[in-house]
Amino acid sequence: MSAEKVTVSVIKADVGSVVGHSRPHPEMLNVSKKILADAQKQGVIEDFYVTRVGDDINLYMTHYKGSGNKDVHGTAWECFQSAAKIAKSMKLYAAGQDILTDAFSGNVKGAGPGSAEMSFVERGSEPLLFFMADKTEPSAYSLPLSRIFLDPFTTTGLVVDARAKKGFDVEIQDVIGHKKVVMKSPEETLSILSLLGDTSRYAIKRICSRAGIGPACVVSTDKLNLTAGKYIGKDDPVCICRAQSGLPSVGEYLQPFMNTTMLVAGWMRGSHYGAFYPCSPEESDPVYFDGPPRICCLGFQLNEGKLQGLEPIGTKGGEHIPVDFFKGNTWDLARMNSVKASRFIRSQGPFMPSILGPEEMEYTSRPEVLRDLTSRFENLD
Ligand code: F6R
Ligand code: MG
Ligand code: MG
Repeated sequence: MSAEKVTVSVIKADVGSVVGHSRPHPEMLNVSKKILADAQKQGVIEDFYVTRVGDDINLYMTHYKGSGNKDVHGTAWECFQSAAKIAKSMKLYAAGQDILTDAFSGNVKGAGPGSAEMSFVERGSEPLLFFMADKTEPSAYSLPLSRIFLDPFTTTGLVVDARAKKGFDVEIQDVIGHKKVVMKSPEETLSILSLLGDTSRYAIKRICSRAGIGPACVVSTDKLNLTAGKYIGKDDPVCICRAQSGLPSVGEYLQPFMNTTMLVAGWMRGSHYGAFYPCSPEESDPVYFDGPPRICCLGFQLNEGKLQGLEPIGTKGGEHIPVDFFKGNTWDLARMNSVKASRFIRSQGPFMPSILGPEEMEYTSRPEVLRDLTSRFENLD
C-alpha cells in the first residue's frame, strides 16, 4: 500500500444527445473510452470508466497527479471535443453544448464541463460510490448528504462508530457569492442546515472526516449558468464518496434515497422542481417531461489506484463492471414515489412552486412581457 495520495476525478459534460436532451450516442462514449485508454497507456491516468446519466457523459479517472492536473483535465477535454465532433456530424441535439471555449487553458473549470476530484491515501480497503444526477443542480445533494452526515436517525454509524462519532468538517460553497466556509458537525448542525436550506445559493462542496480518514465526499459545484455569464444549461452534478470504516457505510449512503422523496431544482427547461428518481444509468433517459431528475449510483473498490468492480477473473484491459446500486426492484417504491410527487407538483403547471423562483429560472419571458406592458401599468390608488 502506497502512502502517495491517489486522486479520483470525475469530469462530466453534456456535448449532445439523441432525441432532444436524452442520451449521448454510443459512439460518443466509445471515442471517450479510446482516448482514456491511450492516456492510460501513456501513464497520464492509472485507470478509467466511462458512463452516462441522461444526456451527460461522465469520465471516472484515477491517477497520482493531484486535483486540477493539466494533463488529466486536458485528456477529459479531448474526450468531450471528440464526442462533440461526432454529435455535430450526426446533427445530434445541443451538440457541443458544454464546450464554452475554443482555447483550453489547462483546466476544465470555467470551460463548461463539471468536475469533482478528491485525493487521499488509499486505505487497506477503499469502497467508492459515484453518484451522478441529471436535470438538476449541485445543491440537490445537500439534502441527502445532510441526512447521511448530520442525521443519526439515518446513519447509525454517527452514534455507534467511534470514528464517525468524532464528526465531520462540512465545506459549504456560496455559489453566487463565490465564497466558502468550513463548518463542524455535529456541533454546528443547525447552523449548517440554516445555510443549506437555501438551495438556490448554498451547496455542500466537500465533507472530511475529523477522525483523520481524510475526505469523505466531494460534489461538482461548477454553476454553468454563472460560468457562461448566462444560463445555458444545468450542472447535472456528480458526487464521489468514500465509504465504510469510520465513514458512512454504503447502505447509509443509499438509504436516504429510499426513505425521502426529494424535490430538487432543474427539471424541464432548468426551471421546475421534480423528485429525484433513483435508477440505473441504463434507465436514466428522461422519459417524463424531460425527467424526472435522475440519480444513479455506481460503486467500485479501489485497488492500488485501479478500479476494481465485478470483472471476471483473468480479464485484462476489458471494460470495468461497477455495482449498479439503484438497479433492480428494491427501488421500485422510491421510483413510484418520485413519479407520484413529480405528477403532483406538475399539476400546478406554470405556477410556483412547480416552477422555480424568478432568479433561478433558466428560461423566462417576463422581461419582454413587462417591457410590452410598460405603458399599460398604472399606479394603485
Ligand atoms: C436539458 C433540459 C431540457 C431542456 C428542454 C428545452 O438539460 O433540461 O428540459 O431545457 O428540453 O430545451 P431547448 O431549449 O433546447 O428546446
Ligand atoms: Mg442537456
Ligand atoms: Mg444533463
